[in-house]
Amino acid sequence: MKKIIVGQSGGPTSVINSSLAGVYKTARDIGVETVFGMRNGIQGFLEERIVDMGQYVRNDLDVELLRRTPSSYLGSCRYKLPEIKGNEALYDKIFDILKKNDIDAFFYIGGNDSMDTIAKLSAYGKEKGSDIRFMGVPKTIDNDLAITDHTPGFGSAAKFIAAMTKELVRDSLVYDIEQVTVVEIMGRNAGWLTASAVLAKGDDNEGPDLIYLPELDFDPKAFTEKIREIQKGGKKSVVACVSEGIHLADGKYVFEMGSHTDFVDSFGHKQLSGTAAFLSNMLSAELGCKTRSIEFSALQRCGAHLASYTDNKEAFNVGGAAVKAASEGETGKVILLERASDDPYVCALGRHDVNDIANVEKKVPMEWITNGGTFISNDFVRYASPLIEGEVSPIMVGGKPAHLVLPK
Ligand code: F6P
Repeated sequence: MKKIIVGQSGGPTSVINSSLAGVYKTARDIGVETVFGMRNGIQGFLEERIVDMGQYVRNDLDVELLRRTPSSYLGSCRYKLPEIKGNEALYDKIFDILKKNDIDAFFYIGGNDSMDTIAKLSAYGKEKGSDIRFMGVPKTIDNDLAITDHTPGFGSAAKFIAAMTKELVRDSLVYDIEQVTVVEIMGRNAGWLTASAVLAKGDDNEGPDLIYLPELDFDPKAFTEKIREIQKGGKKSVVACVSEGIHLADGKYVFEMGSHTDFVDSFGHKQLSGTAAFLSNMLSAELGCKTRSIEFSALQRCGAHLASYTDNKEAFNVGGAAVKAASEGETGKVILLERASDDPYVCALGRHDVNDIANVEKKVPMEWITNGGTFISNDFVRYASPLIEGEVSPIMVGGKPAHLVLPK
């Protein structure tokens, strides 16, 4: 392989740039001459907004800085390619741009929606007899990719959530008054991240009292009664962690019960936000006590100063493994993380057909949701604990973490 191209797609993570660094560094180490980057994923690629990464990532220090930079260095998009049938002109255009730039392999760092791009491009390439290779590099804080044990990005977001929840629980116990803190955590339809709030619990912390995942229907009345019951039982301050995607039995999101935006992205996803604000206002009216809503929002996926070393390392390795696989002639595959053991934590890298992964969502197993849908089992704790282990020291300049930024 002489020339390759890499892009980032979907929501960012604290370590998505570590995967980019893994692709870049491994490619250079095996003799690839040019690593192109597409600005804003496939959307920018279609507009031929392509950069030569070698001009901007000039040495090993830049690679290290890139690994510590949150957000997507190349920019991202939420753009789904249309079905091939009837849209052949668009696919021909993509292959023309690839050919024009002599590109041998295409790498896309993304979640299940983004893997659809790899599935479609590798299928079209096969149909046309192209020898360009297409590889998926997994990422998403949501941890909802099928087949792989977990996704790069999840461990760091889970670590952030565990640490922040721990600190919030401490703060919530300051006054001897009745109060409720509602914490909203990302993860659309899968509750992996919200479940991570349970990791706050330990010898020096009570942890949250209640945890609600989107895997089950949510009943606002039962929620209110549960909190009333806890307070009546003597625990005045209650911390409840809820997924941004909790919904009523009829499918309506809880955030839609309050004031909200109607924005829908091109993957067809509604912008989820405002669940904690709605619930905390509701509880204040129903219980007549102090309430506070906390929405971790984008902080949980860009808090790279609190990234997990395990996660950062795995993110780098999946990028490198994708390059190695493509150099061996693989196409239409995604790199997997395959866990061999929890303690000691051992995880290997594998490869799998992208068609089994694109557009599929992996949910938290029902048996890991306990206490009538209000808490999380120790099986989850065993699963998630190794993923948040280890720290990545930011490179501090002027008292703040330094970042590598792609010029406009
Ligand atoms: O990519 C996953 C994710 O972080 C979800 O957890 C969240 O619902 C969504 O992205 C938010 O996306 P955006 O930043 O595009 O609003």
